[in-house]
Amino acid sequence: MAKDNVSNRASVRISVPFTNQEIELPVIQASEGPSVIDIGELYAKTGLFTYDPGFMSTASCRSTITYIDGDNGILRHRGYDITDLATSANFTDVAYLLLYGELPNKSEAEKFATEIKQHSMVHEQLHFLYRGFPRHSHPMAVMVGAVASLSAFYHDYLDVRDRTQREISAIRLIAKIPTLAAMAYKYSIGQPFVYPDNNLSYSEDFLHMMFAVPAEKYKVNPVMADALNKLFILHADHEQNASTSTVRLSGSSGANPFAVIGAGIASLWGPAHGGANEAVIKMLEEIGHASRIQIYVNKAKDKGDPFRLMGFGHRVYKNYDPRATVLKASCYELVKELGIKDDHLLDIALKLEEIALNDPYFIERKLYPNVDFYSGIIYRMLGIPTQMFTVMFAVARATGWMAQWKEMMDDPEQKIGRPRQLYVGQTKRELRDTPFGK
Ligand code: CMC
Repeated sequence: MAKDNVSNRASVRISVPFTNQEIELPVIQASEGPSVIDIGELYAKTGLFTYDPGFMSTASCRSTITYIDGDNGILRHRGYDITDLATSANFTDVAYLLLYGELPNKSEAEKFATEIKQHSMVHEQLHFLYRGFPRHSHPMAVMVGAVASLSAFYHDYLDVRDRTQREISAIRLIAKIPTLAAMAYKYSIGQPFVYPDNNLSYSEDFLHMMFAVPAEKYKVNPVMADALNKLFILHADHEQNASTSTVRLSGSSGANPFAVIGAGIASLWGPAHGGANEAVIKMLEEIGHASRIQIYVNKAKDKGDPFRLMGFGHRVYKNYDPRATVLKASCYELVKELGIKDDHLLDIALKLEEIALNDPYFIERKLYPNVDFYSGIIYRMLGIPTQMFTVMFAVARATGWMAQWKEMMDDPEQKIGRPRQLYVGQTKRELRDTPFGK
């Protein structure tokens, strides 16, 4: 890498194949982590594209929100360590941090939390939308539709070029997504929808909307609300993963934020992404007993078997996922504080982790537990049914999606995302050589 003396800007020089040409490409310095080669003019200068399936070496945007150092198991939002945030802040404080770049002071925090509460109800007409779904629908299917449908209810306030309208859409989405999620659950079990209670915090209110019934008084368990607050913080943002990239790409066309978040939820649903938390519990249940763990570890190592250990491995973390560390500790705390005598699935998970982390296959490939490995166990302890796990992820991640969407929309260099391709299909051929030829 060269540094030009005048501007102190770094650049790389590459020689272009099939020509005698050499070109210089600027290198943009990161504040932390890998810098990037700016290839924006590569095609214009050389007629070549770059090729990087799965974005193994490609930065898709500039961002100031989240920093991950996967080799050292570091995750920071706006410079603050995730463990510190998860153990010391409220979810709405972290939402404020992600959206506006700084932690709020006391009065800002109160004002923001109140603003969120004031938007927590949804239009009554949405009840009819829910009633159109079969009761046994997967709640993620309901969420994709319900969140995108908010664009029908707020169509007069969806000018994405207007900063104030973007702000209010972000608040609306963060405020309403727990209500929509709890409604998906209530609908699935045939209970009446529970309206939000603005006297409660974000995580308390979610538990209340999930578990209260009109016939009885519901008291939120503070230990559970605290655990949920932690889970929401740990899932709030994770830089340019598949769902966030979906949000940015679909939003880059100027599509409205509710439709865009609907697309993000669809992407999150996949088992390689947010759907893994549900798959972990199904896997642990299928294993059923510690004596059967090795069978599943062997299956995961067998290249002829598509089975993977769910909740293990990560594209970026080649070390323990710091979120999993907090969650593992949280599992122990909950067992103690809720007086759980023994948690069969937690025992299997702990043993499975121990076996995998001592197995050369997992050691060589740097496969460690990720955030989804322990989150499902905690959701179960909170009484949240398995089918709702990925919905829980979506509720928390809505904040990160909105922060990332807002950052993109505020960027003066923002353009519609339009990747190119390596075409490997047929070259020109004639219709006259086929039965359709005249
Ligand atoms: N079990 C067994 N082998 C694995 C696993 C696993 N869970 N994960 C990766 N590998 C192997 C993989 O077969 C490959 O081996 P080889 O080099 O011999 O071909 C090597 O490790 C590298 O895997 P990869 O598929 O190239 O890695 P990736 O970065 O494309 O995939 C991943 C990352 C998360 C999709 C993958 O690790 C996985 O499928 N894990 C299980 C699903 C899961 O837990 N997902 C949640 C991710 S964290 C939360 C989120 O993103 O929502």
